[in-house]
Amino acid sequence: MDKNFYITTPIYYPSAKPHMGHAYSSIIADFFARFKRIDGFDVHFLTGTDEHGLKIQRAAETKNIEPLNFCDQISQTFRDLSKTLNLSNTDFIRTTEDRHKKTVQYLWSELEKNNDIYLSKYSGWYSVSDEAFYGEDEIINKDEIKIAEVSGSPVEWIEEESYFFRLSKWENDLLNYYEKNPDFISPKSRKNEVVSFVKGGLKDLSISRKAFSWGIKVPNNPEHVIYVWLDALTNYISALNYPDTNDKLFKKFWPASLHLIGKDILRFHAVYWPAFLMAAKIPLPEKVYGHGWILSGEEKMSKSKGNILDPLDIIDIYGLDPLRYYLIKEVSFGNDGNISQDKLEDCINSDLANNYGNLCQRVTAFAEKNCSLKVPEIKNFNEEDLIILDKFTKNLPIIREEIDKQNVNFYINFIVNALFEANKYFNDQEPWKKKDDKDRLNTIVYTSLELIRKISFMLYPIIPDTIEKVLKIFNLNPLDIKIESIAIHKNLIPGDNLKRIDILFKKIEKDND
Ligand code: ME8
Ligand code: MG
Repeated sequence: MDKNFYITTPIYYPSAKPHMGHAYSSIIADFFARFKRIDGFDVHFLTGTDEHGLKIQRAAETKNIEPLNFCDQISQTFRDLSKTLNLSNTDFIRTTEDRHKKTVQYLWSELEKNNDIYLSKYSGWYSVSDEAFYGEDEIINKDEIKIAEVSGSPVEWIEEESYFFRLSKWENDLLNYYEKNPDFISPKSRKNEVVSFVKGGLKDLSISRKAFSWGIKVPNNPEHVIYVWLDALTNYISALNYPDTNDKLFKKFWPASLHLIGKDILRFHAVYWPAFLMAAKIPLPEKVYGHGWILSGEEKMSKSKGNILDPLDIIDIYGLDPLRYYLIKEVSFGNDGNISQDKLEDCINSDLANNYGNLCQRVTAFAEKNCSLKVPEIKNFNEEDLIILDKFTKNLPIIREEIDKQNVNFYINFIVNALFEANKYFNDQEPWKKKDDKDRLNTIVYTSLELIRKISFMLYPIIPDTIEKVLKIFNLNPLDIKIESIAIHKNLIPGDNLKRIDILFKKIEKDND
């Protein structure tokens, strides 16, 4: 089996203040990357910044600095964010890098060579904030101005000479492809949305602009810059050194396993991108998954709406892992999710401090007093031990399957359930009453330690820093984590030393108003 996994986040429009939506896409991608890694895959995880186009040019003009200078500064805030979020990305691409520009121009030439590009004139609505063209039927009036109905962004009328991509020509091939590859667009609701959009008829796509200069130049016609979405989407292959198809990265990681994106940019990834690739005779990615939005109140969190919950502030107050855990648990993956500081605090208190932190503390404290802080000897598990241990063994293949369906909810529910059961097991077995039955006491402690190990391995992709601390109990480090070992009941070696660890999560005092 192919044990390579290539996952991408969208490349972000550099903005001075990254918001919770950005943090969310990245954290979810990191979760998948880390899971696949502990499942023995060679993982390539790409993120980066999308730096061309009129939106960026205008932002730089407002600050009175050169666009590249502006991008250098702002792109760095996203590089910093990837550190702050503890992302395990293996590359960070900027669309202003040479490696990227070369690939985009090559791709353009391929499309041109295959007769998929022609010169004509564009007239229509354009939203700079979305960097998207809209049809008349997608525009509404609001407070005297015209806006795109889907995004609420203002649009402007443009009329200029433009190159077009023959998107209409690919309509049937796209529909066939969706049909033959039913999971290509996920979740299913998004697929239906895309299919009906394509069935509604595709118009050729304007793919160059003449009115401004901040972009990659069209080969042989430098008066035009390449449409920022054709430019941006290509990052997924420029990072693998396309067109050098013999390059080790390209051979190993293309086609991508998963483009993880927000639902607002589905059309670009599920229609335009596959059409560009087909036209250039490049294999298509395996899957595009469109997750939902983080809402603040009822609205999508966005800079233009000013309803940003700043991830950096939240991390300052609560730490990173609580935020990672909370976003993964509370937002039902695929759907929109409302987040609040109050619910985050509940989550820290109940799941992290009570259910997980306490379990680790109680069991190790008990092992210290009663087993000289060593993994105890064990003779036989009884039925109650086996029932709880077997759940991991039985579910391992299902966990892997569900992860491949991006069923984050299944994964986190499994953990929450396992935590509940592990605590209940320790309470019900009452090892403190078994001091005259040393074998039974040892078995209970051993089983509880195994449960902590298994649950911690599963939690690693969600709260990696915390798990690194917890693994010290067993003298392990993250590289020792193999997800397949959650199926093994006797992985801990009797006689091995255990270590006490500090409190993992402090409970938050909540005022009851
Ligand atoms: O779209 N909730 O960049 P971007 C959840 N440069 N996700 C959100 C969100 C929210 N409130 N707000 C934004 C772009 N996102 C392009 C991508 S890829 C070739 C080019 C998600 O910075 C959004 O859905 O506007 C998208 O997936 C990502 O953040 C980047 O958004
Ligand atoms: Mg956006």
